[in-house]
Amino acid sequence: MATQQPATRPANPRFSSGPCAKPPTFDVTKLADAALGRSHRAAIGKDKLKAAIEGTREVLGIPADYRIGIVPASDTGAVEMALWSMLGARKVEMLAWESFGAGWITDVVKQLKIDAEVKTADYGQIVDLATVDSKNNDVVFTWNGTTSGVRVPNADWIADDREGVTICDATSAAFAMDLPWDKLDVTTFSWQKVLGGEAAHGVIVLSPRAVERLENYTPAWPLPKIFRLTKGGKLIEGIFTGATINTPSMLAVEDYLFALDWARSEGGLQGLIARADANAQAVFDFCAANDWIANLAEDAATRSNTSVCLKFTDDRIQDGAAFAKAVAKRLEAENIALDIGAYRDAPAGLRIWCGGTVETADLQAMLPWLAWAFEAEIAAQA
Ligand SMILES: Cc1ncc(COP(=O)(O)O)c(C=O)c1O
Repeated sequence: MATQQPATRPANPRFSSGPCAKPPTFDVTKLADAALGRSHRAAIGKDKLKAAIEGTREVLGIPADYRIGIVPASDTGAVEMALWSMLGARKVEMLAWESFGAGWITDVVKQLKIDAEVKTADYGQIVDLATVDSKNNDVVFTWNGTTSGVRVPNADWIADDREGVTICDATSAAFAMDLPWDKLDVTTFSWQKVLGGEAAHGVIVLSPRAVERLENYTPAWPLPKIFRLTKGGKLIEGIFTGATINTPSMLAVEDYLFALDWARSEGGLQGLIARADANAQAVFDFCAANDWIANLAEDAATRSNTSVCLKFTDDRIQDGAAFAKAVAKRLEAENIALDIGAYRDAPAGLRIWCGGTVETADLQAMLPWLAWAFEAEIAAQA
């Protein structure tokens, strides 16, 4: 070994970017009140679904006139139902700076065959938001690119007097970043990300403008039942009060209610943002102190505080992809950091989740081990 192993180990080695670490106070006994074996349409089930919706509104500060629905198929389901239900009414701009945004482009251009204006940036960069015509066009974008660690710096580029709708995949942003609701017409996320909940269910948040689109526009293509938000030209209001389209997992609902309670105990949204900021800062400081590693996001204003993506910059590294994998494997073998390899389509490197369920002390204990693994791998290469 080139260097000695650090003395301190993280208490929790879970730094995955999804499913993310459970809240620190979690254990399965906290789910004992789940409405298991009961109908989700019985009062007990509906009350819990309603509490999940209203808890979301309260913690995220979502305006009273926005609808919040729990929908099938995690964040993907929520994004897809918006794309398939709402696009085609006017010109569409598709923006992407990593693989999930790129996936939405594929769906819109290749599956829905919409002649969209496509704007993409390489990993680490963001598109020139000043070129986006949000006044006239529908705009689809990802608030935080989970696989590139790049986020939009703000929503100032979205017009207040817009005629189109904005559709925002905010799955790795919600509960960690301020989302300006007046700029967002459709916002989606999954419980499995920042709150460390379970996957399978998505959340879709609709502004009044989004509802207007849904009620006044019928796409040319057929919609499967799990995408349908309207009936006879009217919003299916029940979806937004807990009468889900199909059967949800009441265990996952209970888990989300627990996560919301934990979020409240941490000071709500601002507390969660502060936790993510402190976590990300620990990683930024580590990069500043070590010239062999750097943030993939080039502009500091676009650096994610949840999915922090890193690249190795040392000239001695022979095979970048093999090196990054070997470092991640070493950390995993020592049970120091699990699941921190870069996303499969992203440039070689690491991705360290910094959302609020991660404890700063665990990151601070893990980072010296990253230096150890780096040195060990440089030595092994030689
Ligand atoms: C930006 C983004 N969009 C969509 C998804 C897909 O989310 P899910 O698997 O919850 O549907 C992810 C998952 O990591 C993501 O990071």
